[in-house]
Amino acid sequence: MSGVNYSEKIPNNVNLVSDRTLQRALEHWQPHFIEWWKGMGPSDFQSADVYLRTAISVDAQGWAHYGVTKMPDYRWGIFLADPTPERKIGFGDQMGQPVWQQVPGEYRSTLRRLIVTQGDTEPASVEQQRLLGHTCPSLYDLRNLFQINVEEGRHLWAMVYLLHAYFGRDGREEAEELLARHSGDADKPRILTTFNEPISDWLSLFCFTYFTDRDGKYQLKSLAESAFDPLSRTCRFMLTEEAHHMFVGETGLGRVVKRTLEVMKEIGTDDPAKVRAAGAVDLQTLQKYLNFWCSSSLDLFGNEISSNSAANFANGLKGRPDESQYDDHVLREKTLVMATPEGEQTVPMLNALNEVMRESYLKDCEIGLKRWNRQIERAGHALRLTLPSSRFRRTIGTWAGQPVTPEGKLISKEDYEKRLYDWIPSESDRAFVHSLMQKVTAPGKIAGWVAPPDRGINNLPVEYEYVKLH
Ligand SMILES: [Fe+2]
Ligand SMILES: [Fe+2]
Repeated sequence: MSGVNYSEKIPNNVNLVSDRTLQRALEHWQPHFIEWWKGMGPSDFQSADVYLRTAISVDAQGWAHYGVTKMPDYRWGIFLADPTPERKIGFGDQMGQPVWQQVPGEYRSTLRRLIVTQGDTEPASVEQQRLLGHTCPSLYDLRNLFQINVEEGRHLWAMVYLLHAYFGRDGREEAEELLARHSGDADKPRILTTFNEPISDWLSLFCFTYFTDRDGKYQLKSLAESAFDPLSRTCRFMLTEEAHHMFVGETGLGRVVKRTLEVMKEIGTDDPAKVRAAGAVDLQTLQKYLNFWCSSSLDLFGNEISSNSAANFANGLKGRPDESQYDDHVLREKTLVMATPEGEQTVPMLNALNEVMRESYLKDCEIGLKRWNRQIERAGHALRLTLPSSRFRRTIGTWAGQPVTPEGKLISKEDYEKRLYDWIPSESDRAFVHSLMQKVTAPGKIAGWVAPPDRGINNLPVEYEYVKLH
């Protein structure tokens, strides 16, 4: 079952050939997708030969096959993790009952909205990143960017498959809309704010893949718990791809820290202006980028107190990430004490699940910071990188619009406005970072603001020509 059929127009492991109507509908959508990819995907690199991995089976041993391909020829397909025999609903009021192979009528519109919202982020990030190839720090990084881009394209396929297969005409219409909205578009923007923020430099890309793809991981993990089994299996496979995206973020930021520390040592000072003059990202600027992308990604978890999240959990549509690690899976009795701008509030746990998810997400975000701070400490510097408080710069939830410092302290609006650009990148910070972004495409060479990676892709040397430009 795990084997993927590559002889068909749309590679898949869902026996697409047995459902002619569905197959035809998806084959009709396919050229629209390719058109979107050529218009909105990585600009000017469509004829480059890229060393990419593709799924050939969904089992743990070897789902990835590496080869050189031009991106428009990438074999985007439909891959679901193998079914778990006799899988039962793992949480909510219907816990212990068999999972659903079809969408129950009463949850149809909610499930469709969950799938569309997830699906919308996938092509959005490709659009956000479409110009980055022009300023790549190395061929290794360029290849990683394109790997992420084609996989986000495949994630779109994953959601479009569910829409086509289980939601009839509404689903097909939603699939078209997923190609019609565009990141940052004034009339038809993407659904979530973070996915309309431009990613115009590689420092932002590393932050985005560190923070925002990690939000993706948490969303996919919670949907992987869903009682709607096709959604669960789809998300389980997507998670294996997502891991690489976060790897790019974590190692990318680690390499920035490493290079900055090298430069500080070379010039014998930690003066940010001198670090900048020497062509590296000063740690203060890096901190601002962390603050910006972390706070933007925290909004993606939604309101701290949410009746939607309560209903989605109680009904078995969306669980907590790693639901099995908790001992209560029904949560009808539990409460959570939450700090709000109006003081402490006791909230039914079911209504506080967005916050529970946000907290465990932040813990996951800490891991990289600890590693980078160890590098900084070993180099003998006192500065430590930190994550902003989950109350900082929020636009959604109980802390939305509140003047809060990155440490989580409420201050006056006036003070906040005066100091905001001490905490997030100002125009001139961004201009400086942009000035570092010079394209480096000689095999084995790397830009001056980032250290080379420790190792190459799939055991190849770092200096391998991962992208052949023509
Ligand atoms: Fe994705
Ligand atoms: Fe991703």
